[in-house]
Amino acid sequence: MGKKFYVTTPIYYPSGKFHIGTAYTEVLADAIKRYKTLRGYDTFLLTGLDEHGQKIQTVAEKTGETPQEYVDEMARLAKELWKEMDIKYDFFLRTTDDFHEKAVQKIFEYFLEKGDIYKGEYEGWYCMPCETYFTKTQLVDGKCPDCGREVKLLKEEAYFFNMKKYADKLVKFYDENPDFVEPAYRKNEMINNFIKPGLEDLCVTRTSFDWGIKVPNDPKHVIYVWLDALTNYLTALGYMQEDDKLFKKYWPADVQIVGKDIARFHLIYWPIFLMALNLPLPKKFIVHNWIVMKDGKMSKSVGNVVYPEKLINRYGLDATKYYLLRVMPISQDAVYTPEDFIERYNSDLCNDLGNLVNRTISMVNKYFQGNVPEYNGTPNDADKELEEFTNNKLEEVENLIEKYQMSNALQELWTVIARTNKYIDETRPWELSKNDEIEKLKSSIYHLIENIRKIAIFLLPFMENTAKDILRQIGIPENLQTWDSLKEYDKLNCIKVIEKGEPIFMRKNIEEELEYLKN
Ligand code: MSP
Repeated sequence: MGKKFYVTTPIYYPSGKFHIGTAYTEVLADAIKRYKTLRGYDTFLLTGLDEHGQKIQTVAEKTGETPQEYVDEMARLAKELWKEMDIKYDFFLRTTDDFHEKAVQKIFEYFLEKGDIYKGEYEGWYCMPCETYFTKTQLVDGKCPDCGREVKLLKEEAYFFNMKKYADKLVKFYDENPDFVEPAYRKNEMINNFIKPGLEDLCVTRTSFDWGIKVPNDPKHVIYVWLDALTNYLTALGYMQEDDKLFKKYWPADVQIVGKDIARFHLIYWPIFLMALNLPLPKKFIVHNWIVMKDGKMSKSVGNVVYPEKLINRYGLDATKYYLLRVMPISQDAVYTPEDFIERYNSDLCNDLGNLVNRTISMVNKYFQGNVPEYNGTPNDADKELEEFTNNKLEEVENLIEKYQMSNALQELWTVIARTNKYIDETRPWELSKNDEIEKLKSSIYHLIENIRKIAIFLLPFMENTAKDILRQIGIPENLQTWDSLKEYDKLNCIKVIEKGEPIFMRKNIEEELEYLKN
């Protein structure tokens, strides 16, 4: 059996159009999936929508639709966006899917039978937008500690999950698995802020609205949206269903990606639910920070939201993906500015990458009628230095990708691009040609094409169209486009580049673009 790799994104609330922050999570997961697929894994990427709960019911009421009509339309739009962004997901789960609802009810009943869920009465401070109850001590200045909005004191008959029972087991798990969460400081945050002060039992039902999965045999209660939503990572694979072969194959998840705001749900409640189900825990969590604006959070009410379509329509999908992955090191917030976007577009993509490809293709045409000279097997000093630099750096880039540090990986990959550009300036092929130093010229052109081939292969998980376009323009056959072929060095025989290089990114006028981006 081949190696399997299961990666998940959160299932999104369809409370509005997706912005570049939401798109970031999906693009990151997609890059990971593509990389693992290139490395020979049998991969599965799960995404979807979290369609129940008070928040969705309220939004739907405003549009004059039933919640079901509303989420149906939002699911259509989400799928349309992921298609436009060429996200290679394997399954799109909707929490209103019948199979999911039935499996969640079974999980609830199982917890009830086991005594992990019990019936009681709840009084607490409820934040409606966050759909979360807080104790008085958790409030900050009497407001929601997560979003800062007003909270209401509510009392209701409810079911509870016995979190306390699992607290010690969870701490032990964290101690024994230091690599469970990336970045590591998130783990300490969870332990110090939530577990050490004492885990409260979690209220897992609601009676104040009905847009949710009904508690079996007690239908005035609906199941808390987070219990419903978190289990999607299992139900999507057939867990608690007749056909569970995907579950048997892919669980536990190899990596689960979540934003910092939902770390608590995924790093405390989710592992505890899994322990209660006697299931293995995911191998790793990536908790990423946020893409923010200069004036703070992206928000519709402030009117500073950036939608991915705005960038894709004008700069293309690959430039948009590159920007999102490059700008955000997982452990810090990244500030989006139109200036930064254009600067990266012009400098990283047009100047560094685009020019390298273009200049090289024109030299192959000029000096060798488009035929890449064969490798003579004896690199001179300059060639050797380039080879060593490239091999060491690419190893470093691969290690960073393995750690899911895509921003750093791209940054380091760009040092290979810069070094290769510098190699052209140093070896000065035009002078080698004039002085009839033909062997040196051949070697220099061979090394350039070889470096571009390797750079393009490393770009495949991030910007597939651009990578493929580069490989096509420099005439690389399919067998030399694979990850394994990175080890090959002297195999570029009979390669012919295209007659005239086609620019992969067109330089933009900064003023004009800022005008476009500011509107
Ligand atoms: N429905 C829940 C997740 C349930 S998973 C069992 C949810 N949905 S959400 O739509 O509000 O957020 C989805 C993801 O988008 C979260 O990981 C969140 O952190 C991420 N982002 C939302 N805004 C973001 C940015 N501005 N930047 C980066 N990620 C952002 O939470």
